[in-house]
Order: sequence, then C-alpha cells, then structure tokens
Amino acid sequence: MDNRPIGVLDSGMGGLTAVRELLRVLPHEDIVYFGDTGRVPYGTRSAEIVTRYALQDINFLLGRQVKMVIAACGTVTTTLSPELTERFQFPYTGVLHPTVRAAVKATRNGKIGVIATATTIRTGAYERELQKLNTDVQVYSKACPMFVPLVENGYTSRDNPVTRLVAEEYLLPLKEKGVDTLILGCTHYPVLAPLISDVMGSDVTLIDSGKAAADYAKELLTEENFLSDRKIPGKCSYFVSDAPEDFTRNASIFLGEDFSGSVSRIEITNYPETID
Ligand code: DGL
Repeated sequence: MDNRPIGVLDSGMGGLTAVRELLRVLPHEDIVYFGDTGRVPYGTRSAEIVTRYALQDINFLLGRQVKMVIAACGTVTTTLSPELTERFQFPYTGVLHPTVRAAVKATRNGKIGVIATATTIRTGAYERELQKLNTDVQVYSKACPMFVPLVENGYTSRDNPVTRLVAEEYLLPLKEKGVDTLILGCTHYPVLAPLISDVMGSDVTLIDSGKAAADYAKELLTEENFLSDRKIPGKCSYFVSDAPEDFTRNASIFLGEDFSGSVSRIEITNYPETID
C-alpha cells in the first residue's frame, strides 16, 4: 500500500486524457499533473531538447513525492532512450508499450496506422515496438504536426471545418492503405477522436494512448502492491509552466467533465536536467 500521489506529465494538456482514465480506473488515488504549457509543443523539437525538458518535468514530479511517473506524452515516451529510463529508480511508464499492446490485440487484418507528432514518428519507435510484438503486422505512420496547436487552441469539435480539412489531409492516405486500427500516438489526439473516426470510418478501431497508459499504470501499481488504501476520492493537483487561465478554460474538453481543480504555475527551468 502506498498513499503517495501518481505523477503525470505532458508538454501541455494532452496528458489529461490519461488523467481522465486514471480518475475512472483508480478513483482513490491522488494525482499530481504537470503540463509544460510554457514550452508546448514538444513534438516539433529535437530529441536533445525534449530529453532535457522531460527530465526537468520528471524532477518536478519527484519533488512532489510521487510514487510513480507516467509520461503521458508520446513525444517524451519515444524520445527518452531505454538506456536512460531503465536507470530510473522509481516506477515509470510512458505510452508506447501499453498502446502497442492494445493495438496488436485489436487489429484483425494486421494493418495498423500510427499518427503522432513529427518527433515521435521520426524516432520510428512505434514501428519497432509493433513489429517486436508481432512480426506480421504492417505499419503505416503519419506525422500530424498541426493537430497539437489546433487542440491546444480548442479547435476540437467534430464539425470544426478547419480541423476536419487538416484531418482529411493527414488521414485519407492511411484510410486508403486499409488500416483497421489506428494508434493515436499523441495524447492530445483522443479529443479529436469523433472527428478522426468520421474521416477513417466507424470500422477502424482507435487506440487512445492516454487511456492505454493509465490502464497499464493500474496494472503496474496493482502488481507491485502500490495502490492507495484510501476510501474517499483522491485529490488532483495541477501545475503548469505558463499562465493557468487557458489550462483551466480548456481542461474540461480533455477530462470529459467539468473542471474544478486548482492550477498553479511553477518555474520549470529551476529543475535539474539530469536524473541521478
Ligand atoms: N501530448 C504530446 C504527445 O503525446 C504532445 C506533443 C507536443 O507537445 O507536440 O506527443
């Protein structure tokens, strides 16, 4: 049993799609969320910069005494090298492994699409992991760099003509390949799921990386006997690196419920860029 909070990080608001699922599957856990809203997006930056930012984010969470860290960000997950994450002295998961596992389970025709940020697609991590799990799958990847700014600015509704046009541009080539499963490899994308589904067709299964990571975190905490024994609902504390107002305004879109939490601004550049 461990009553310390679960730490969740993202470059901005996308990681709230993991929080949404955590609130559902682990309602008695406290959560500390950090969204690096002052430096979003990560998905257009070099691996070196993303690694430095991510280590500062993790150090902030560790300073809040979290019992585990969830990198609810596809870009961070696929950029941090396994050599680095294997040395972490705390339970850690990103979104890659849980998402790939869910996609391989879901596909019927073995054709899996992956959409994510440019940085994530450049790493080739999704293709590698998918093929490691099942050598027969065919993987079709597409970077969708305009999705994160659209989402961060609240352009998420199903009938938004701008977002729909962008979605068609990105997704129609994957549809033509006949994928029956599409990995939403960036945690910002699940809020576009209804629109993405309209473009791809209702027979294509969408895999939500935020949800997959949260479900996997539950498995890990259960196996390690690290769940809280609290009987009342857990508390969520939210931290950002820029003005909290935008976060407060848009959080409900990601959480799928009214947002009532408190959001505090912190100076993320004060945290170390290395982990001992
Ligand atoms: N949610 C992040 C991800 O999953 C967004 C990346 C970004 O900041 O560009 O990749």
